[in-house]
Amino acid sequence: MIGVIGGTGTLGRALREVLPVIKFHSRRDFDLRNVGGVERYLRKFLRELKVVINAAAYTDVDGAEGNPVEATLVNADFPKVLARVSREMGVRLVHVSTDYVFDGRVGFYYEDDYPQPLGVYGKTKLLGERYVLEENPDAIVIRTSWLYGPGGRNFFSRLPSMLLKGEEVKAHDGQLSSPTYAPFLARVIFEMLEGEVPGGVYHVTGRFPTTPFKAAVLLGDALGSRSRILLRSPGPGMEIRPRTSVLLSSRYRYDAPSFLKCMEEYVAFLRSSVES
Ligand SMILES: NC(=O)c1ccc[n+]([C@@H]2O[C@H](COP(=O)([O-])OP(=O)(O)OC[C@H]3O[C@@H](n4cnc5c(N)ncnc54)[C@H](OP(=O)(O)O)[C@@H]3O)[C@@H](O)[C@H]2O)c1
Repeated sequence: MIGVIGGTGTLGRALREVLPVIKFHSRRDFDLRNVGGVERYLRKFLRELKVVINAAAYTDVDGAEGNPVEATLVNADFPKVLARVSREMGVRLVHVSTDYVFDGRVGFYYEDDYPQPLGVYGKTKLLGERYVLEENPDAIVIRTSWLYGPGGRNFFSRLPSMLLKGEEVKAHDGQLSSPTYAPFLARVIFEMLEGEVPGGVYHVTGRFPTTPFKAAVLLGDALGSRSRILLRSPGPGMEIRPRTSVLLSSRYRYDAPSFLKCMEEYVAFLRSSVES
């Protein structure tokens, strides 16, 4: 059986759809900031599991600057305990991380390139990766970027419905990265588990590096949208985000569908959920 920590997030929801026999954690079951109780909770949760996927994280990049303690608890301290307990109990661990471990100066990164995060979010995620692999070298650590899909709240998750409704879209050209459709990532995680890949860091993203503005124009055209798409300035917070962070994979070959193909699947999902 496979267990997912963070079953209510964008990736957690996608994993629900893709994985065969599953058990989910949500914040209601256990608050990951509760350091004192975490080992006890995990020893119960991991019982009978073959695999556990950590899809939980403190993902508010701006919020982390003012809440470094909370971000560290969720993104680093919790994964550290999870990695140790999963190793002790013989449960394979998949832990998810981010392109924000890089500073964006070089722009294109393989798994072994030197990480140098700019903000608290990236720093806590990098610490989490390091703790995980120290405690559990057999763990699969997957870095991804700009995750979007059903239930998501970020720009790429909201973009198709804005375009479908003809709403005005304001987007910037200040960051270049690869939007990643969460159900696609969920499928690759499953393939990696089936293929019993060795422990270590892997990069898995969508195929198409773009900026939010270019993506909005492209998708707007593809959908025949009436939306006005306006270029805005990137705004505050750019100093804690990598400007260009395209993750390249040298350790695992996967077939990524194109950005528009992923969006087509997402749009079909959005339309069917409006109808039902
Ligand atoms: N979103 C992106 O663009 C992006 C890009 C690169 C990498 N990633 C990484 O991909 C992974 C999945 O991200 P996502 O976008 O699916 O995240 P998300 O939508 O923000 O979901 C985060 C999950 O973590 C849970 N969580 C957070 N704090 C918690 C706490 N104190 N106690 C219990 N549960 C808690 C949330 O529960 P609630 O629903 O109750 O809050 C939610 O289930 C993360 O490791 C993230 O760092 C994300």
